[in-house]
Amino acid sequence: GHIAIAIDGPAASGKSTLARLLSEALGLTMVNSGEMYRAVTWKVLKSGVDPSDAEAVAKALEQMDIECGVENRLSTIAIDGVRLGPELRTEEVNRSVSLVSAVPEVREKLVDLQRGFLKFTDLVMEGRDIGTVVFPDTPFKIYVDADADVRAERRVAAGEVDAVHDRDREDSSRKTAPLKVAEGAAVLDTSKHTIESGVDAALEILSE
Ligand code: CDP
Repeated sequence: GHIAIAIDGPAASGKSTLARLLSEALGLTMVNSGEMYRAVTWKVLKSGVDPSDAEAVAKALEQMDIECGVENRLSTIAIDGVRLGPELRTEEVNRSVSLVSAVPEVREKLVDLQRGFLKFTDLVMEGRDIGTVVFPDTPFKIYVDADADVRAERRVAAGEVDAVHDRDREDSSRKTAPLKVAEGAAVLDTSKHTIESGVDAALEILSE
C-alpha cells in the first residue's frame, strides 16, 4: 500500500508551507484538503446557495461534479470542469468555508475523494481531520500549531482578510470531525521555528 503523512492544524499555523516542503524533501505528492472544502464553498456561493443552510448545501453538492487530480506532485481540483486556484482564497470563501465544511454530506464526499488519492500515490495531506478521520491508521501524524497572534499576523502579512480565530472556533467546535490533536500525533509549534528548522523538526519526528 501507499504511505500517507497526515498534517493537521489550525488556520495559518504554517501547515501548508511545512507540508509542501516536506513533500518536496521526500518526493511525495502533496494534497491540500482545505482546497477541496474551499472549492465546494466557492461553488455553493457561485450558485447562490445560502452557505448556512446545510440542507441546501447538501442538495447543491449532489449536483457537483468534483474532479481531483495530481499535477507536478500537487493536488488539483475542478468543479463542473472549472479548474480552481486563486479564487479559493478570497474573503468570501474564507468567511463561509467553516460553515460549509461542517455539513456532514460535504465531509463524507470529500473524505472519500481524499482517500482515493492513496490508491495511486504516496502523499502528504494537510487539513483538519487527516490524522483523526481520513487516515487514522497512518503512523505518520503531525499536528502543527502556532501562537494565535502569530497566526493572525501571518494572514495580515499575506494581505488576506481572514478571521482565523472565528474559523478556528467553528472548526474546533463542530460535531463532525472537529479539529483536535489526533491520537499518536506529534505536536510541532512553528512559532518556535524558522521555516527550515520546522522542516528539520518534522523530518526528525517522522524518522522516530
Ligand atoms: O490554509 P488555512 O489553514 O487557512 O485553511 P485551509 O486548510 O485552506 O482550510 C479552510 C477551511 O476548510 C478550514 O477552516 C475548515 O473549515 C475546512 N477544512 C476542513 O474542515 N477539513 C479539512 N481537512 C481541511 C479544511
